[in-house]
Amino acid sequence: MRSVIKGTGFAVGEHLVPNSRFEKIMDTSDQWIRERSGIEQRYFVADGTSTSDLGVRASRIALEQAGVAPHDIDYVVFATMTPDHFFPGSGSLLQAKLGLRNIPALDIRQQCTGFIYALQISDALLRSGVAKKILLVGAETHSPFMPFSDWETVLGLADREPSPEDRAIHTQVRDRAVLFGDAGAAVVLERNDEETERGLIDFELHTDGSNYNKLYVPSGMAHRPYVSPEILKRLDHVPHMDGKHVFRMAVTKMPEVARSLLGRHGLTISDVKMFIFHQANLRINEAVQQALGIPPERIYNNIQRYGNTTAATIPIAYDECRRSGKIKQGDLLCFVGLGAGFHWGAALLRD
Ligand code: ACO
Repeated sequence: MRSVIKGTGFAVGEHLVPNSRFEKIMDTSDQWIRERSGIEQRYFVADGTSTSDLGVRASRIALEQAGVAPHDIDYVVFATMTPDHFFPGSGSLLQAKLGLRNIPALDIRQQCTGFIYALQISDALLRSGVAKKILLVGAETHSPFMPFSDWETVLGLADREPSPEDRAIHTQVRDRAVLFGDAGAAVVLERNDEETERGLIDFELHTDGSNYNKLYVPSGMAHRPYVSPEILKRLDHVPHMDGKHVFRMAVTKMPEVARSLLGRHGLTISDVKMFIFHQANLRINEAVQQALGIPPERIYNNIQRYGNTTAATIPIAYDECRRSGKIKQGDLLCFVGLGAGFHWGAALLRD
């Protein structure tokens, strides 16, 4: 049998935030952001919208496209690094908000490789017979990490100058602030027992935690109390990132894992109709594309419009490719990602 993706959907935060908004509140420029990352805009949620809300919106679209009723879902896998709460995970909130039966809802946290890890788990659950119809969600609200003093100006609802002190704090996090966006995506997977080539084929996943602190949130349960005025002052509740380290890892590990997975199946780059990479930085993806020798028409990037939405990037790109006809039933696809942990991996599937 094979696990087949029957439906896809995604939802973005309510507010479109072009790069120019950041120019108002920190020392940056639209040109710097475009040149270094390829990003032109991203969406941020309205106050009160959470990761599970974005997941619910995306799920409704994916369920409808799959022609699957919510009560037929028998397992939820929810990938996020920005859950609504420390606990419980966003999976249980999604279960209640969507009115699903009291089925298992599993939360996983593999950051930018979350969707690929979640696909492998879903495939194993379907193959083993534990589940028949899985709702897999990858969703993130990154904006609440940011220590901005005036959200109305960021969201375009006001046009105020920050104080010099606040501007200095915003500028301290500018390397991360400009990269991320808020969005959720969902796919519905079904066990297919018919003789067919369609479905998930194989995965290759890796973890190396030795340099975890090159991309992490320092605050947490390693400190007592886990939140304090000192932690807030040091901005230790905001992700810390060694951008150059992440960049180097991505351009090394992503080509390596893609080559290895294809090689195990006797496949070459030209056998794959479309490569969909995690969207962290357009420069990273261009370097990986070049290293693998992938022609431009076999690669899809949309970071320009959404920024890095972590667990949602690959399913959003996949959804857009399906809806626009860039990929068709029967096409061989390869997803590749790397992110905090560090985790990285690739998935091979026939659409
Ligand atoms: N605007 C203007 N200047 C900036 C900004 C900004 N937004 N951010 C940093 N700079 C400045 C730096 O302060 C530095 O100034 P200095 O030379 O005076 O010290 C200068 O620009 C160059 O900074 P670098 O860090 O060398 O810039 P780089 O070319 O490496 O680009 C970037 C930085 C875009 C962050 C890049 O390193 C990158 O994209 N790395 C990968 C990030 C990534 O993929 N993160 C993944 C997160 S995914 C996950 O798992 C959660």
